[in-house]
Formats: sequence, structure tokens, C-alpha cells
Amino acid sequence: MKFFIDTANLQQIKEAQDLGVLDGVTTNPSLMAKEGISGDDNVINHYKAICGIVDGDVSAEVISTKYEEMITEGERLAALDSKIVVKVPMIKDGIKAIKYFSQKGIKTNCTLVFSAGQALLAAKAGATYVSPFIGRLDDISVDGLGLIEEIREIYDNYGFQTQILAASVRHSTHILGCAKIGADVMTGPLSAILSLLKHPLTDSGLAQFLADYENVKQK
Ligand code: G3P
Repeated sequence: MKFFIDTANLQQIKEAQDLGVLDGVTTNPSLMAKEGISGDDNVINHYKAICGIVDGDVSAEVISTKYEEMITEGERLAALDSKIVVKVPMIKDGIKAIKYFSQKGIKTNCTLVFSAGQALLAAKAGATYVSPFIGRLDDISVDGLGLIEEIREIYDNYGFQTQILAASVRHSTHILGCAKIGADVMTGPLSAILSLLKHPLTDSGLAQFLADYENVKQK
């Protein structure tokens, strides 16, 4: 399973990249706003900076909701770097835009997916990635990981090549659930990735190893 980081924070992207387990980055307009990035030129420069840090795919979301405008915006984003994946919302014009981009060989990520039907439509349109938001489903008491299972089954039934990118991942249990089900990618904050490191027996075991080493050294 590929690990993407879901942030526009350059420091956090660098930290995840330095860890050696990062396969890509996802952003969205809210994450860009959180970093204070606004205005066309600043947004474009920020995407270029992200592409300069990571080796894998970088999702850059269109702001337009009309087909023609999505095409113009998406083509401009895709021209920035071969790592750019044009992130398109799950709306009627978005599906048409995904079909267009897919025929042009431009990578896409269909975002704001909350049902298996939406995921089926995204795959039919030729999306490279589909992003079901599992954390936000859990927030409204709907089983987010259950949706990943449903999409996995449907895609496997028909051999769809669209990659399941589990988004809105909040913690290690989500990551492990995605890995067990067979999601292709998960995207989450740095904290969720780093939480995989944690186990109290690792901490106490290491403390004991180091204490034993020091005891012998002092004798
Ligand atoms: O990038 C989309 C998604 O991962 C958002 O996550 O935590 O805002 O629900 P969250």
C-alpha cells in the first residue's frame, strides 16, 4: 500500500520524505488555505515546491466546478510537473472532465467520494485514483472502512485500474484497516503515519536495552 501525506505543509512533507516511506502527496483548497497560500501564482509556486520535495504523485485540486474551466485549470496544473495529478470533485462536470483528462493521458484523482456508486462512476470515467473520505464518514456514524471494502470488491469484479486512495485517514487503525482490505493508497496527516511507530513495549524494551548497556559499561 502506498503512503501519501495529506498536507500542503512543506516541513511536514520534507519530514515524511526523509523518513523514506513517502509515495506521494495530496492537497486540497482547505489544506492550502491552512498554510496561507492564496492567489494563482502563489498556489502554482507552492505546487512546484511540493513537486521538488517528493518522488511520487502530487494531487492538485481544481477550484472550478464548470467543465470548460476545469479543463483549462487542470491542463495548467498538469503542465507544471509530470508528478501532478489533477484532483477533481465528484460532480457531473467533474466526471466529464475526468473522462477528458483520462483520454489526454493526464492523471486524475476523483475527490469527495462517499459512496460505492460514486466510486463506480469515477472508475468508468477513467480516474487514476478515487478518494473515499473514510474519516468524514466515521464522523457521521457511517462505516468508512466498510466503503473501502465495497469499492475493492466492485473494482476487483471488473478489473478496474482506478486506484483506491483512502482519504480522510485519521489514525493508525484506519491505516491498518485499509492495508487489510487492500486499498492501493492511503493519505493522512504526518501524525497518523508516525503513530505506526508507537508501541509501549518498544519504548520500555529500548529503555531496558540501553540501561543494561550502560550498567555493563560502568563495571
Ligand atoms: O484531502 C482530502 C481528505 O483527506 C480530507 O481529510 O481530515 O479533512 O476529513 P479530512
